[in-house]
Amino acid sequence: PLRGVIFDLDGVLTDTSEYHYLAWKQLADEIGIAFDRQANEQMRGLSRRDSLLHMLGDCAVSEAELQEMMVRKNSYYEQLIQNLTPADLLPGALALLDELHAADIKVAIGSSSKNARLVCQRLGIAERLNAIADGYSVEHHKPAPDVFLYAAGQLGLQPHECLVVEDASSGVAAGLAAKMWVLGLGPVERVGDAHIIRDNLAGLNWQQLLIELEQSQT
Ligand code: G6P
Ligand code: MG
Repeated sequence: PLRGVIFDLDGVLTDTSEYHYLAWKQLADEIGIAFDRQANEQMRGLSRRDSLLHMLGDCAVSEAELQEMMVRKNSYYEQLIQNLTPADLLPGALALLDELHAADIKVAIGSSSKNARLVCQRLGIAERLNAIADGYSVEHHKPAPDVFLYAAGQLGLQPHECLVVEDASSGVAAGLAAKMWVLGLGPVERVGDAHIIRDNLAGLNWQQLLIELEQSQT
């Protein structure tokens, strides 16, 4: 039976994926690289370094330049999340967290972001979480399963007892590689490999979800 839920953060509990995009876009404009929302789609869920490498494509830059660009992007991102408040939780997020608490289901964050802890604090949900696995927790980032396995370990749960909630194809792949259940949020082209798919968290009901997961097995 399911005993824990591991939420990705950016694009699942809050719309910070838009802020990541805007920060990358500013950097791209400054260094004269073509970049748009469509290109950004492929970077969803990737670590800061992997995102930058993806954005640069075959444009060769030195390690020092890479480091400087990552610092610059993060400074733009930090500015954008400065005014984040609990009102920035996406619809349905708080209700689901309440429902999970009532059902005695443990909750963790499994994010590639080094800003995840700060974002959870600003969103006012840090106290509700049993564990936070973030960009500092593991060496290998999504689509590797490591961050979710680390989160499950923090919760004291086995992979098959965990449901991952993800908006990125790299995150869905990571959840499946961890041998966990996966709820994908977003278009089928992005999260189609997940066990169940929804547009977002709004109106999601835990009991209903359990039934659907069971049905996805038959
Ligand atoms: C999340 C986001 C990515 C971001 C990554 C690293 O997974 O979905 O867009 O690149 O975290 O975030 P960071 O805050 O460490 O730059
Ligand atoms: Mg995400």
